[in-house]
Amino acid sequence: MKSIDKLRPAAPADLDALVELETAVFVQPAYEPMARRQFRWHIGNPRAALIVCERDERVVGYALGLARTGSHYMRFYSLAVLPDAQGGAIGRRLFEAIEQAAAARGLGVITEVRADNVKLHQRYLGLGYVEFERKPDYYPDGCAAIRMKRAFTAS
Ligand SMILES: CC(C)(COP(=O)(O)OP(=O)(O)OC[C@H]1O[C@@H](n2cnc3c(N)ncnc32)[C@H](O)[C@@H]1OP(=O)(O)O)[C@@H](O)C(=O)NCCC(=O)NCCS
Repeated sequence: MKSIDKLRPAAPADLDALVELETAVFVQPAYEPMARRQFRWHIGNPRAALIVCERDERVVGYALGLARTGSHYMRFYSLAVLPDAQGGAIGRRLFEAIEQAAAARGLGVITEVRADNVKLHQRYLGLGYVEFERKPDYYPDGCAAIRMKRAFTAS
């Protein structure tokens, strides 16, 4: 039987699965996985859009966007899909869900990309993101970050 992937806002019952997914995908020392208390905080945080993808009653991916007070943009913060579920467009759908959550709040989206990640940079350009800042020596290995944004409203 074909699996159905369902996107929905995260709920407190997803905490264990989110922590498991995070530590499976963002392995130290290359990444700093988000802690359980951060997930717990974001689930109840009205300024956060924390969306999960559920497949066969299992959380296989999530995306997080954070809207700062006073900002016209939601910051795209994190995206992860379990290795065995990757390559099936869940990442793309989760990212679109963050864009939709931002647009529903009347906000645009800000994202960051490594300067050496040409493919992702091109991908964001293709989606209508424009570069507005470069941060030299941003990542632990010295690579620069390119900050990009896309507005969904006239403001
Ligand atoms: C990046 C990731 C979430 C993509 O998930 P996925 O379900 O395989 O994504 P899709 O099937 O929609 O893939 C579409 C393509 O867009 C990429 N992609 C889509 N949105 C992306 C985004 N916002 N950030 C990075 N890559 C993205 C995918 O890597 C994939 O690239 P490819 O065509 O070169 O293979 C997944 O590979 C993952 O969890 N990687 C490890 C964690 C990570 O790097 N997260 C992103 C930075 S926070």
